[in-house]
Amino acid sequence: MNMRHSELDPFPKTFLWGSASAAYQIEGAYQEDEKGISVWDTFVKQPNTTFKNTDGDVAVDHYHRFKEDVALMAELGLKAYRFSIAWSRIFPNGKGQANQAGLDFYSQLIDELLAYNIEPIVTIYHWDLPQALQDQYGGWESRQIVEDFTRYATILFDTFSDRVNYWVSLNEQNVFITHGYLLGTHPPGVRDSKRMFAANHIANLANASVIKAFKKGGYKGQIGPSFNYGPSYAFDSDPLNVLAKIDTEELMSFFWLDVYATGRYPRTVMKQLEKLKLAPVVTEADQQLLASGIPDFIGLNYYQTATVKASTNDSFSGDMGMNNSGKKGTSKEIEIPRVSKFVKNPYLEQTNWDWTIDPIGIRIALRTIESRYRLPVLITENGLGEYDKLEHGEIHDPYRIEYLQKHLQEIQAAMTDGVQVLGYCSWSFTDLLSWLNGYQKRYGFVYVDRDETSERTLNRYKKDSFYWYQKVIQTNGDYL
Ligand code: BG6
Repeated sequence: MNMRHSELDPFPKTFLWGSASAAYQIEGAYQEDEKGISVWDTFVKQPNTTFKNTDGDVAVDHYHRFKEDVALMAELGLKAYRFSIAWSRIFPNGKGQANQAGLDFYSQLIDELLAYNIEPIVTIYHWDLPQALQDQYGGWESRQIVEDFTRYATILFDTFSDRVNYWVSLNEQNVFITHGYLLGTHPPGVRDSKRMFAANHIANLANASVIKAFKKGGYKGQIGPSFNYGPSYAFDSDPLNVLAKIDTEELMSFFWLDVYATGRYPRTVMKQLEKLKLAPVVTEADQQLLASGIPDFIGLNYYQTATVKASTNDSFSGDMGMNNSGKKGTSKEIEIPRVSKFVKNPYLEQTNWDWTIDPIGIRIALRTIESRYRLPVLITENGLGEYDKLEHGEIHDPYRIEYLQKHLQEIQAAMTDGVQVLGYCSWSFTDLLSWLNGYQKRYGFVYVDRDETSERTLNRYKKDSFYWYQKVIQTNGDYL
């Protein structure tokens, strides 16, 4: 329902006001202290895989500057910080003997956060699979990964769960699997829908296995996957378009969320996949494993919504025509054959990367998760990627403030509706490497002085949004 600002419930005192990052996008030091090579280290070195061939070899050098970065988090007043652990720092070859230097790095980071009373939220996997596992058995395409991922996660639980209360199992399985195995735009660069659904099922098993191990191990704290969920709207009330909306959400969102939250695939999608001979092999033992790995919360990564019309087209080109250049209006129309065609929503603006800006969409996403699964939600990502300009040591980013403010207001409305939201991590804390979009698409509260062509000084500068979020946190959201 429509609510006036004065009718909104205040944010709870325990609300985790946070911000987020991922190892590959910030750390750099890609070969230091015995770290192994990840699939991203390799993928980006192939020409034309990323914007201007950018890589994360140095990224924003967080590995060497984490103390400075954490001090900035403390100055901002963050209550929580979500970061990911690079699997190949812990196991350079993906398995075997753990690398003490890797464990030490994250241990120091966690201690530094705790010294400032910042709650660490640890993502176990944010896409940087050890290359060795890709080479040995094809990474996510082999069931062997379930055991290796569980062992890796268990080392993390054993080492850090005395200090960590929130764990994210997989980050955006829907993104790394579809980009990696259908669109070919992420490693391993495969374009094959059958292989995609098979790899996805194995990732589901790995996710459930890690959650099961966490619960069985009796570790304190909570665990859940982070999922990139943008609700879909029907373009209009034409029943065909409404059906297309339902099909799109089942295929693109509930196909994952249902498995996480209930242990079962949506029957409608599975039936179609079976007909098309694309369905993964799901054994009785798999069903049991999925059912025993139900998370404590759903991690929500929300950026945008989609608007769809029905599709009558039969074939899939495999070309999403994404705008990775930041030239507005250059993305191509996406179509899922016989399901839906993605169209522009006349009510909504878009960013320079053609991402739709839709604050009410986050409330709709939260409401959907609540009514479908009744699980608490931890917002693990939300933010605006835009060009920023450093002028005389200052960055004026009113567009980002407006974006974050409107989304937080809708989150507050969703909580007033009855959704259980544990906290909010903006994407991102410092500027960082955007996987396919280089360094010019900036998300941070803290500007980092580097670009695609030069590492420059890598100095940090506080943006206007830094001071704005500081006030929001100081007032526990009253300032919104
Ligand atoms: C999410 C990822 O998909 O979106 C992040 O978890 C990513 O790692 C973020 O950076 C923003 O996407 P992009 O493509 O603009 O960097």
